[in-house]
Amino acid sequence: MNTWALVAFAFWALFLRYLPQILNFLRLQRFAKTLPGPSVGELIANVKKGEILNWLKELRERHGPVFRIWLGKDLMVMFSDPEDVRQLLGNNALLYKSRNYRLLEPWLGKGLLTNGGESWHRRRKLLTPGFHFRILSEFKEPMEENCRILVSRLKERANGEAFDIYPYITLFALDAICETAMGIKKHAQLQSDSEYVKAVQTICRVMHKQSFSFWQRLNIFFKYTEMGKERDGALRVLHDETNRVIRLRREQLLKEREQQKQKEKEQEKENEDKAEENDVGGKRRLAFLDMLLLTQLEGGAELSDVDIREEVDTFMFEGHDTTSSAIAFALSLLSKHAEVQQRAYEEARDLEGREKESMPYLEAIIKETLRLYPSVPFFSRQVLEDMQVGKHTVPKGASINCLIYMLHRDPVNFPDPERFDPDRFYLNEKQMHPFAFAAFSAGPRNCIGQKFAMLELKCSLSSLLRSYQFMPDKDHQPIPLAELVMKSGNGVRLSIKPRRLN
Ligand code: HEM
Repeated sequence: MNTWALVAFAFWALFLRYLPQILNFLRLQRFAKTLPGPSVGELIANVKKGEILNWLKELRERHGPVFRIWLGKDLMVMFSDPEDVRQLLGNNALLYKSRNYRLLEPWLGKGLLTNGGESWHRRRKLLTPGFHFRILSEFKEPMEENCRILVSRLKERANGEAFDIYPYITLFALDAICETAMGIKKHAQLQSDSEYVKAVQTICRVMHKQSFSFWQRLNIFFKYTEMGKERDGALRVLHDETNRVIRLRREQLLKEREQQKQKEKEQEKENEDKAEENDVGGKRRLAFLDMLLLTQLEGGAELSDVDIREEVDTFMFEGHDTTSSAIAFALSLLSKHAEVQQRAYEEARDLEGREKESMPYLEAIIKETLRLYPSVPFFSRQVLEDMQVGKHTVPKGASINCLIYMLHRDPVNFPDPERFDPDRFYLNEKQMHPFAFAAFSAGPRNCIGQKFAMLELKCSLSSLLRSYQFMPDKDHQPIPLAELVMKSGNGVRLSIKPRRLN
């Protein structure tokens, strides 16, 4: 065989190897032509400007609730109609996250957020009891202790002068997740400057930029760029910290187990009664990290050290960045709406010392905050088989994206959508479409930390409202940025003065 024949044969073999992908890409292109959407040039211009959220909002207004975007060879189909969102989130065939989430893998590996299919299902089953309501009730005490520290740290700012409250809130939220789900004392609030928090900020910024850049999406090149090096530096800080948390808790747990065994030997009878008290339906409930470590120690499910680190990375990130954003935006809105703040204050004052969960007006404020500033403004899934959504048959190989930020601005369910009005949820929630509000997603891949988040939000906001009055910084309007988790690009500035201190 001569050289040309060999080359022709190699091309033919390659062509056959990639024929299914080529045919599918052509199908994606045919489907994309049936949808409106921006040109590649428009995408590049808006990525450069860094105003993705405003641009998506503009596209929603221009094209309606379904449109498409090409990200390199990846076709993203964007949905924001509540009926479409209902179909998507309830669909058990949509359990794989889109390719975009792979950018998170150097950090979160195959943790619960990025994992898919059967492996995700096994982990979700294993982790769900870690957020059982009995466990959450044990979290209240450490949570309240951290609220007291937050209130006390803010004393230095209670002079009526405007400042950025966001750094105070992030450290509080980091301590809250570490001292509850992870079972270790972190004291980030008392150190006032956390390398971990800075590294999370770096990585969110870098990964957001990477996700909208064609060539930087390729990890082979990305790691050699300036941004790639910045990401790798942040990754070292993040992984060192999670490894430290795991090591610390493992040592404590082993000690506690030894002490427990000793006790059991001494008081066998008494212990039987005690064990019953700790049981829910015959099964002992353990907090998140203890459950992972004990499962590993007892060999119940195969869990390597890396598996545990991936979950701890995922929960440390999701468990503090989302709630910090929600608390800070809620305070910003309350500072600008004195009458809403007064009603919330009166509810918190009257219910002091009683069950914090029953604060219906504060709950409405939290939902209205998450409507306007959803901590996770959009999320996406990989379509593995052709699927019908409304009148569209989305082909296999496309990604679908739920634009929660736009869903929450649908004027049919939320008239005058930019107006902050907690009464929408306090008085009129039943009249809304059940999927008009989806800040915690819904269906099998909904937020596992939803109840934890509500507990933390209610606990912190009620403590803060009882202690301080919040006033706006008139020159400041938060600039929402969608860097994985919604942030304010210019901080959250306001001023405070004491009501009375706890
Ligand atoms: C205001 C607070 C929060 C909001 C708005 C929120 C929202 C969401 C949303 C929309 C998703 C779906 C994301 C996707 O499909 O890609 C999600 C997933 C998740 N959230 Fe949250 N979250 C919050 C707090 C928390 C907390 C406190 C934790 C942990 C303690 C947590 C842990 C997770 C995890 C692990 C997932 C992935 C679940 C899975 O795929 O099975 N979140 N969250």
